[in-house]
Amino acid sequence: MNDFFYETPTLERKQDVLDYIDEVYRCNSNLDGTGSLSYIQVYEEWLLDLEKRRKTTNNTLCPPEETYLFIRKRDNKIIGITNIRFFSNCDTAFKGHIGYNIRPTEQRKGYNKINLYKALEVCEEKGIETICLVCMKDNIASSKSMISLGAELDDEYGFEDNSLQIYKINVSKSIKTFKELNYNTETKGIQYDKRRND
Ligand SMILES: CC(C)(COP(=O)(O)OP(=O)(O)OC[C@H]1O[C@@H](n2cnc3c(N)ncnc32)[C@H](O)[C@@H]1OP(=O)(O)O)[C@@H](O)C(=O)NCCC(=O)NCCS
Repeated sequence: MNDFFYETPTLERKQDVLDYIDEVYRCNSNLDGTGSLSYIQVYEEWLLDLEKRRKTTNNTLCPPEETYLFIRKRDNKIIGITNIRFFSNCDTAFKGHIGYNIRPTEQRKGYNKINLYKALEVCEEKGIETICLVCMKDNIASSKSMISLGAELDDEYGFEDNSLQIYKINVSKSIKTFKELNYNTETKGIQYDKRRND
């Protein structure tokens, strides 16, 4: 857990973020979960947009939000990008509180579970008691990340694999329950890393 930290995007991180985007497209993946990064083309404009979104007035259609780079300490590398929206009423939250993305070459190492845990800590600091998370039913990696942190399916819209699922997490309960699991998740991640390097 302490091997990772959140950082707000800055001009100094420009090349790192561009490398991240490049990797995503080279691997035929996507920027889902990163907020406006998925459609803003110019890095400096993205920074301005983040500033605007941070300061927006609080309402259910357009709540304030923060985007964080999820950084691994040992090599100062961006492992993921996370977008958190700050609002309290889950019932109108089609977009969900948290969007996440892990760079393709670092996926399936348990990192998103650590990332989601950190995002829950941010929500707790902001006084949000219950969060909702939204994903397509066929995005198994996303739904499994949520379920691993204690999310329960709350609603589903649409048909079969095309349906949109809404999960809810009790923030403080999850933080308490998964403190230990999070530690194990991290260990698991390191083991996977080792296996790859062997
Ligand atoms: C979704 C995403 C963030 C998951 O990141 P990750 O670091 O690979 O996830 P983790 O390694 O922490 O794994 C989380 C869980 O999903 C499972 N999982 C991960 N990738 C999987 C895959 N391709 N197929 C099946 N299960 C998978 C893991 O086994 C783990 O489940 P477990 O706790 O039961 O073992 C990543 O796949 C991604 O960035 N996808 C593209 C963007 C996206 O879809 N964002 C979400 C929008 S809703």
